[in-house]
Amino acid sequence: MNTDPDLEKIMDFLSRLMGVDFESIGKKMVINTIASSMRKANFIHFREYLLHLESRPDEVLDLVEELTIPETWFFRDGLPFDTMVKISLELLKTKAKINILSIPCSTGEEPYSIAMALLYRGVSPEAFSIDAVDINSKSLAMARAGEYGSNSIRTNVEHYLKTYFLQTENKYLLSEEVKEMVNFYQENIVGKNFRQGKKYDIIFFRNLLIYLSDTARVEVEKRFTELLTSGGYLFSGHSEVLYFSGRGYEIADPPGAFYLRKSTGNLSKIIKKNPGAKMSFAYSPNLPKVKTDLPQAKPKLETPVVPEPSNTKAEADKNLVATYLIRIKHHIERGEYDLALIDSMKLIDKGISTKELYFLTGLAWENKLQKDHALQMYLKAIYLDPEDYDILMHIALLYEQLNNTRQAKIYRERAGRINSRRGE
Ligand SMILES: C[S@@+](CC[C@H](N)C(=O)[O-])C[C@H]1O[C@@H](n2cnc3c(N)ncnc32)[C@H](O)[C@@H]1O
Repeated sequence: MNTDPDLEKIMDFLSRLMGVDFESIGKKMVINTIASSMRKANFIHFREYLLHLESRPDEVLDLVEELTIPETWFFRDGLPFDTMVKISLELLKTKAKINILSIPCSTGEEPYSIAMALLYRGVSPEAFSIDAVDINSKSLAMARAGEYGSNSIRTNVEHYLKTYFLQTENKYLLSEEVKEMVNFYQENIVGKNFRQGKKYDIIFFRNLLIYLSDTARVEVEKRFTELLTSGGYLFSGHSEVLYFSGRGYEIADPPGAFYLRKSTGNLSKIIKKNPGAKMSFAYSPNLPKVKTDLPQAKPKLETPVVPEPSNTKAEADKNLVATYLIRIKHHIERGEYDLALIDSMKLIDKGISTKELYFLTGLAWENKLQKDHALQMYLKAIYLDPEDYDILMHIALLYEQLNNTRQAKIYRERAGRINSRRGE
């Protein structure tokens, strides 16, 4: 795309400031946003607007906020929150208080989910503290207000809704008990003073890495190394977990929770010795008192039982495939990748080829660190739906991990174009 050199300079300035690679969010959307804020500020030429921005950090921040993607919801991905509770209980056996960071926290659903998950399991409010950070002040204002619409509730969290929300006609109002547990801060993850002098036992860093430039990724990785305690835990997005693996972090068990442990030197030995081992997280007598009037565990979703797929393609009706797909998804959420693959191969062998099936199979392979197999599946999925943003980003990230930067760039740009169109 040929753009005005001064517009390129504005984009470059903003991209460096946020650490975001604009190809991944869509250059067209970025250009439209810059043009619209320029018009609002009564500027005609990009050069004058650039000079103006350089002297007005408040307006730069407004522009940055327009360029962020605040998409989030309560208990996104489910399993990470159960795993975080187990880890916290384990850590609380040896320390009185744990510190947790949620970055980026967007409108607050993620840090509040952490708070609710811990309180619900009876962890005392004095035993944990949660800092939540985002660059977007408007998102943070919404987070502090704690009022949510149905878009924030996308998974089955009935028990949390009943316990911690007041439901009005069209809003869910979060209780003060939960709101008080989270401290919100407006900071830039690649800014100079980001969380300076702080230490965290657990960091949630989900769904931002995919948008960051290579330079920003390296910077963030360095900062997390300083911020995390030795042996601390890092939760990332499902397509992001592989990025950290081997870079001073080890993917921890269960893998479906998409989290890693900062290497302490001997973790790899433990994993090698006992690869399938699940840590035991029984309540300890030293733990804060567990409230007995609350259920102790989130109700388990049963994996649907389905009959064997029928022998002919014609008989494999839509409902059967749909039930299988739900089952495969459940397996993945629980980290049962081999079971997910057994089910998905049954369908593939019967000649079923849908985008969802290929995508889930790719996800299972990706979590088993079989990058080539995962890529093959995602490429089949994207062939069936060339406009799927998430799949394009998975492919781009995998190509990056396989050091194929040319293909990675092509797929990142395709994803960017889809995002631009969404913003129109
Ligand atoms: C897709 S949301 C992710 C929210 C949450 N972690 C989740 O996974 O549901 C991405 C967030 O990143 C924030 N963000 C973008 N660039 C940032 C930066 N440089 N520093 C801090 N936050 C940033 C945006 O404001 C947005 O709220």
